[in-house]
Amino acid sequence: MTMRTLLFALAAGSIFGAAAASAGPTGPAAPGVAQPAADPPVYRPVTSDLMNSVIQPRHIKLWLAGKDENWAYADYERHNIGGALERMAAAIPTYKGLAFADLIAAYATPQLAAVDAAIKVKDEGAFVKAYATLTEGCNGCHQAAAHEMIVIKVPDGNPFPDQEFNTPVQ
Ligand code: HEC
Repeated sequence: MTMRTLLFALAAGSIFGAAAASAGPTGPAAPGVAQPAADPPVYRPVTSDLMNSVIQPRHIKLWLAGKDENWAYADYERHNIGGALERMAAAIPTYKGLAFADLIAAYATPQLAAVDAAIKVKDEGAFVKAYATLTEGCNGCHQAAAHEMIVIKVPDGNPFPDQEFNTPVQ
């Protein structure tokens, strides 16, 4: 390499180097060119979101199914309430210092087992009793978690006009 080509290479390197630096991630954005947006934060539902959107509608649907003696569907909802509560405990293990799994074991698991037993023997009277106990369990947990103002009751209507609960499949 001659001295002339060496000088040229050094000069070119410093020019291209400067250009590369100004186009790099830390360099200023070129005017009129939009910067790529950062990923939005992931929405993580909290306990009240899940109670409102997952547990409450399933609690209502369980009632509508059982009252229509649609045992296959009642069993489906009973199973889904239990599964949803388990997934909640896995995702949000403590609620204001209380172990969610312990609350579920006290206020939902035995109550859901009684509902299960009534569904298995297809006994509407036993279902109505077990459902009332499950509903007391909902409120027991709300009281234990200092949310006694949230009072759940046996449904007195059907807010799902687009779903058939009295299906012939048993
Ligand atoms: C393991 C405890 C536990 C059980 C069991 C439980 N809940 Fe909850 N629920 C909570 C807690 C805690 C909150 C309050 C969450 C908050 O606001 O931070 C809540 C809130 C709610 C809310 C209020 C949501 C709102 O925005 O209006 C509804 C509705 C609800 N629960 C329905 C139910 C129903 C129906 C059952 C029974 C099938 C049930 N819950 C069983 C713990 C429980």
